[in-house]
Amino acid sequence: MDSNSKTVYFTIDFHLVVREKPLLYNIYINSSTVKGKDHYVKIVRPGEVLNDEDIEGFKKYQRIHVLESERGLYLKSLAEDENIESIDKVSVIKDSAVKHLDDIFNPGKEFNTEILGEALDGCHDSMKAMVDVIKDYDINSLKKLIGDLSFHDFYTYDHSINVSMYSVLIYKQLKPKASEADLVAIGLGGLLHDLGKTKISTEILNKTGNLTDEEFAEIKKHPELGVELFREANPEFPGLKKESIEKVIVEHHENI
Ligand SMILES: [Fe+2]
Repeated sequence: MDSNSKTVYFTIDFHLVVREKPLLYNIYINSSTVKGKDHYVKIVRPGEVLNDEDIEGFKKYQRIHVLESERGLYLKSLAEDENIESIDKVSVIKDSAVKHLDDIFNPGKEFNTEILGEALDGCHDSMKAMVDVIKDYDINSLKKLIGDLSFHDFYTYDHSINVSMYSVLIYKQLKPKASEADLVAIGLGGLLHDLGKTKISTEILNKTGNLTDEEFAEIKKHPELGVELFREANPEFPGLKKESIEKVIVEHHENI
């Protein structure tokens, strides 16, 4: 089995498992104690309903996991759960978004159109859950929420995620009747606005001194390059207006 077809899992918190409602995803434990020889065993299936006692019982396994391919379902049910605090929800959603942004923006990782497509799908799942949680926030409560969230050392990711959240709420103030799909599209535009920077050399991006005219001309291409990349990856995004996402990407440095 090559590394591409390897099944990938992620760890979830015990207190963020949905209770008293049919589960949307499978839960696994790793029954191996030998490092590098993981053996995952399914302990709960979709449709099963868990209570506090069940989840307390899982703690003997130390950690519980969900399939990476079911991350979208996990985020969806997390976002919809009324018993979980918004800060906990947004923190998990943000970690997911960081993971997908890292697949896109980390210059040390392999990058191609297929990888971008998968990362975009992950961003879509994250943004759907994010909009579900923050759509009724006002700007001041969002500001507080962002202040309460833990921050990573990766400026680009935190910046992109904050831009996406503010974009959603500013758009909602401008268009109070905007559909959830429109808010998700705007949020994705915010999350991906600097996509084209992946095509600019890191020497230019990380240069601390003044840029030469040529370097500045190169940087100025990133909004156009971002849209090109987005079109090449051609994500499905059912129900979303992809033109809105492209518009945010291509116009994000315009100044009226
Ligand atoms: Fe930019």
